[in-house]
Amino acid sequence: MIDKKNAEWWKSTVIYQIYPRSFKDSNGDGIGDLRGIIEKADYLAELGVGMVWLCPVYASPNDDNGYDVSDYYQINPEFGTMEDMEELSAELAKRGIKIMMDLVFNHTSDRHKWFIESRSSRDNPYRDFYIWKDPRADGSAPNNWRGYFNEPAWEYDETTGQYYLRLYTKSMPDLNWECRELREEVYKIIEWWADKGVAGFRMDTINTIGKDQRFPDAPEDAPDYVKGRPFFTNQPTMHDVLREMNERIFTPRSIVTVGECSASDIEETLLMVAEDRHELSMNHMFEHDELDFGPGGAWDIVPFTAAQLFDVIERWQTELPAGGGWNSWFWGNHDLPRPVSRFGNDGKYRERSAKLLAAIEFTILATPFVYQGEELGMTNAGFDSMEHYRDVDAFNYYKYAINEAGLSEEEALANLRYRSRDNARTPMQWDASEQAGFTDGTPWIEVNKNKDEINAEAQLADENSVFNFYKKAIALRAGTPALLFGDFVRIESGCEHAMVYERRFEDERVLVAVNMSDEPASLDKSIDFCGLEPVLDNALGPGNDLYRLEPWQAVIYK
Ligand code: NOJ
Repeated sequence: MIDKKNAEWWKSTVIYQIYPRSFKDSNGDGIGDLRGIIEKADYLAELGVGMVWLCPVYASPNDDNGYDVSDYYQINPEFGTMEDMEELSAELAKRGIKIMMDLVFNHTSDRHKWFIESRSSRDNPYRDFYIWKDPRADGSAPNNWRGYFNEPAWEYDETTGQYYLRLYTKSMPDLNWECRELREEVYKIIEWWADKGVAGFRMDTINTIGKDQRFPDAPEDAPDYVKGRPFFTNQPTMHDVLREMNERIFTPRSIVTVGECSASDIEETLLMVAEDRHELSMNHMFEHDELDFGPGGAWDIVPFTAAQLFDVIERWQTELPAGGGWNSWFWGNHDLPRPVSRFGNDGKYRERSAKLLAAIEFTILATPFVYQGEELGMTNAGFDSMEHYRDVDAFNYYKYAINEAGLSEEEALANLRYRSRDNARTPMQWDASEQAGFTDGTPWIEVNKNKDEINAEAQLADENSVFNFYKKAIALRAGTPALLFGDFVRIESGCEHAMVYERRFEDERVLVAVNMSDEPASLDKSIDFCGLEPVLDNALGPGNDLYRLEPWQAVIYK
């Protein structure tokens, strides 16, 4: 079991995710940068976060906004210089904030020198750094796998007459983790960043680095979306690599790690994060995120209920700790819709439901990850035509939807308005000025039209804003051992769309009641509020009936 009293620092911190391109532009080129983040260091300190996860800032041609790395030892000039990076880390350190870097090692850019070498000839020393296979007898791809962005997973390369594997775009070839030399090169890179004082790593799509070496076809009737996924997810090679990294780099330097491991259930997650496995500190689990996936995957969008969400929360909250693992929690990130538009109500109850999401996030047993703008209750961009989109995934989906899946243009656009990653990539809304205070130039992606109503300047000045609710909830969690370490115990709420749970540690007891609905909720009269006082309430001026929750009300009692 987890030793609560001697728990590692990262269990009681809050991690704030920055998508540098969209956070703050300091030089007017329309692209956020490192000096922009430095300008906002006080803002981060005010919110109360202890670590910043920076999405990739390495050299990159930006086919996938930095997730296609061409040199891991360089900063992308659009973002600044290595000196800026050092200054950022010093400025954050002054405020007690550590840095978590994004490690992208399932693939590189095709402009990385390893790939340039690898593709040049079959006997190049770097050939084995990537996954090359002969065509089938009829010249077609080695198998029927498909990637994450609605395309086949193999790309034919004329220079040597073989296919290479690429689970994302054709400019992002997958690395071959069976190759010892590749592993050693990657470990050097990680050590180099650790030597610079980086305290944590988020490991991009780490559970796809191992591939079933038989490279079998997926069943023909498997859906197109990531076809063949079981053959390149959670394979033994991943565990082997993680143990090696952990032993050599993470444990000796007390580095915190979080894996991005979609399609992993609790059992599979425990194999990565149970303390005695010595692999990762935490995993980003996606079960709540996948509640709206139909049988056809992410773009087969289906409705889900609050009750389903509560069950997911309860299962992870109880079963992961029981197996010796520590949870992380996020509502959104740069790949997902804005949480208030998806789990909340971004119309009439926008503020209240944004606060409710915070109330849950900071009162469950987990390290919380907040994605930029969530603390303002920012909403989906809701672009209504393709000209506004910037993401390769959006373009690929649009093509696939129209040409292969037979959807109408309107249907494809409706799916994009809900699901597209660009929804959460619009610039941070700092104030109500023309470009929301993000840039003096033309932003790389349009600012959300609601910046007058939703922006940081207004919210910092308003005691009852979403920002100030986040700030209070973060402070409450930090000062309440029961919230940090107490077991999570769900209590029968008496209402399908309300969840009630308790957290206890020694003599301290905290009770949380949330209503995820536009309708009020009547709570079960057996709930014991005895000796408890409300310490945070998002509905301001609650009635005096403890057993009734207003729409989207969340109350924390202590
Ligand atoms: C997950 C990242 O979060 C996403 O943005 C990226 O496109 C893929 N991995 C590929 O690196």
